[in-house]
Amino acid sequence: MATKKETKKKQQPKKPYFEPPLEFSGANWNENEDPYTQFFYEQNLSQFWRPEDISLQPDLNVWQILPEDVKLAYARNLLVLTFLDTYQGDIGMPVVSRSLDERFHQRKAVINFMAAMENAVHAKSYSNIFMTYMSTAEIEELFNWGEKNENLQNIMSLIVGTYEVLDRYNYLRKYDQEHVNFTDDDFLEAQWKAMTASVFLETWLFYSGFYYPLYFYGQGKLMQAGEIINLILRDESIHGLYIGRLAQEIFEKFDDQKQEELKGWMFNLLHKLYKEQAELVETVYDPVELTHDVKVFVRYNANKALMNLGFDAVYPYEDVNPVVLNGLNTETKTMDNFSMKGNGYQKMKSESVKDQDFYFEVPKVGGKK
Ligand SMILES: [Fe+2]
Ligand SMILES: [Fe+2]
Repeated sequence: MATKKETKKKQQPKKPYFEPPLEFSGANWNENEDPYTQFFYEQNLSQFWRPEDISLQPDLNVWQILPEDVKLAYARNLLVLTFLDTYQGDIGMPVVSRSLDERFHQRKAVINFMAAMENAVHAKSYSNIFMTYMSTAEIEELFNWGEKNENLQNIMSLIVGTYEVLDRYNYLRKYDQEHVNFTDDDFLEAQWKAMTASVFLETWLFYSGFYYPLYFYGQGKLMQAGEIINLILRDESIHGLYIGRLAQEIFEKFDDQKQEELKGWMFNLLHKLYKEQAELVETVYDPVELTHDVKVFVRYNANKALMNLGFDAVYPYEDVNPVVLNGLNTETKTMDNFSMKGNGYQKMKSESVKDQDFYFEVPKVGGKK
């Protein structure tokens, strides 16, 4: 008969459930991982805000007298932004963060912070606008429209598809090494493609969606919603810059032939996204006769996204509506004033980023023609 001690021993599992890694390392913020990540850390955190910081009630006077087709275009445009922010928070940023090498604790922290802003703050803010302006039935109808709109679904699929590929690579590389049949270069390629899609989303698709809210803001209408857009665009501005910077580092690791191949892939993605966006813009803006103007802005932002990735602009220069362009100037925002905030306002110690903030000591990488 086994003793009490022996019985106890038999019940213990023979093997641990997983093989622990050989070593773990902590995030040491005393040392810079690179010349720019801690800058982005400071900038991100100093810009932190909450959706409830801004009361939307003062907008109702204007909203209620807008024509129905204008209201619909405004709401549909914000819904497109909602879909993009949802997936950027749910999968885009987390997957890119997970794909970074274990040692990049600071980079991961910055990206994880950005991830938290996307859905929990940005998407939530759009919902707050819907909840203030619209009835529950109207909101439900709006979300149904987005779920059925082919162009929006195709855009999501093109972007999220690259995240899903990288997600699979992340898993296989870490947990299923026996079945891994890809090289480090294959992994880097998936990583670069996901980052490229991420910058297209941040700097191109998001910004294009800011057109209509800025168009109103510039005319002194729907100002509270405009304030929210101002805060979001300030965030997306540094998100695109940061991920673009990381993407350029990876791109530099490929030989010339591979770089050409990847550029081909990127322009193919750009053209597919442009086609879908152009059709979506027609659906949303034809009824308010702004399609031409919005498409100019779409091309303007596509050029900006390419530049964030280290490439030259592809679309010729066109004049963007000055009302909207002025709204993009982060230095003219009223975020630091007391005028637009609700009761819970606390003055933010935050400055807008300037071009000179991005001149780091390391030589510029990328810059492919
Ligand atoms: Fe966002
Ligand atoms: Fe973002």
